[in-house]
Amino acid sequence: MRTWGGRFSDNTDALTLQYTAGADRSLYAFDIAGSMAHARMLGHAGIISVEDSEKILTGLNSVTERIQKGDVEWRPEYEDIHTHIEVLLREEIGEVAGRLHTGRSRNDQVALLNRLLVRHLCDEVIVDLEELIGVFCSLASEHVNTVMPGYTHLQHAQPITLGHHLLAYGEMFLRDRDRFLDCRVRVNVLPLGSGALAGSPYPLNRQMVAEELGFEALSRNSLDATSDRDYAVEFVSAAALTQMHISRLAEEIILWSSTEFSFVRLPDSFATGSSMMPQKKNADVAELARGRAGRIYGELMALLTTLKGLPLAYNRDLQEDKPSILATGEVLIPTLRIFREMLKQLEFDNERMRDSAALGFTLATDVADYLVKKGVPFREAHQVVGGLVLLAEQKNCDLNELPFNTYQQAHVLFEEDVLEISIESALAERDLLGGTAPSQVREAVELLRNQLT
Ligand code: ARG
Repeated sequence: MRTWGGRFSDNTDALTLQYTAGADRSLYAFDIAGSMAHARMLGHAGIISVEDSEKILTGLNSVTERIQKGDVEWRPEYEDIHTHIEVLLREEIGEVAGRLHTGRSRNDQVALLNRLLVRHLCDEVIVDLEELIGVFCSLASEHVNTVMPGYTHLQHAQPITLGHHLLAYGEMFLRDRDRFLDCRVRVNVLPLGSGALAGSPYPLNRQMVAEELGFEALSRNSLDATSDRDYAVEFVSAAALTQMHISRLAEEIILWSSTEFSFVRLPDSFATGSSMMPQKKNADVAELARGRAGRIYGELMALLTTLKGLPLAYNRDLQEDKPSILATGEVLIPTLRIFREMLKQLEFDNERMRDSAALGFTLATDVADYLVKKGVPFREAHQVVGGLVLLAEQKNCDLNELPFNTYQQAHVLFEEDVLEISIESALAERDLLGGTAPSQVREAVELLRNQLT
């Protein structure tokens, strides 16, 4: 069946059928939900009879059952899911099926389907992100006192707590959650009633359809509503950012599980081996998540490029949005879920991280701050401690292993208690909002938890 055959005298070329068919079969439930709301409203508004409306609704239920049973032959000549469902509906209820499309075009129908799809994906991602953030909160509260080296330029910088490091990801994923919530607001607008492009001559009750489908607003311009795919760009863009965050985390897991770091042991169930080297245990889950960031970036570019040259209103190019939206969900959602499970099972080597935190003169800044607290300008203190680091390096010892008289020679304001500067004191001192002190991390876990719904 073609929904538009009247003015054509020749049949469509088989290649054209293949070429133009949409990859939207999996989206039947969204299309049917939209059609049911439309049919109910048509009956209610007296645009079709209540009897026909009810027949259509019953028919659509049977169509759903048939599709779920796999009792449907999908054929390219039906072009897309919208036509397919109309064909199936006709098989169920006969010619009455033809009344469903009153006051509707596939252009506003597909805009509706898309918005239902993206809204559904946003909701899934929001839940998955919240669960992931919850895992970071639990891990962070377990590791409030666990010491590790903090890095800049991947060089030892200052000691931090593992809890603090983990909460950095909690914050990233919270921003991601907020982006999806925000995207959802603009997704949640009903386009139905826009017709093909110009609006509808029927007294459609758009508000009723919106309420049934859970839309918060009605589109205000039919040209925009049928050609807008901004919400899809926003969704894929938020997903690209999220997958980028996951990729940075993946990179750290890969580094931390390497022999050089050995900060963490990967659970066997989330690692793979080598077909040749018997000793290998590879962080493939993390590597694939890092690698798949590229796929979502690609979808974002694809969508933006598809949209950039389109005149108003609907153009068939827009059909290309669905593979990008679907592929994005197919990468992001399983990634969030597997990371949640993998993170729970990471075994941190607290002792190894603590030993490592002491290496590389990570307390040098604290020694400089010691002098600053006694009134020395920071620049001068920095210079003095730089000299001490040089001496310690030459003697191959730690800063607090230098004899006290070396300190005295370096600056008169040093007293014996300078040798008491320790990792614990350095951590405890960073006790202001956003700092790594255990008390702050404990507080930060609560602040983050309070943001979850
Ligand atoms: N399959 C199309 C899409 O996904 C539906 C709308 C088709 N409209 C049209 N006039 N050809 O975008």
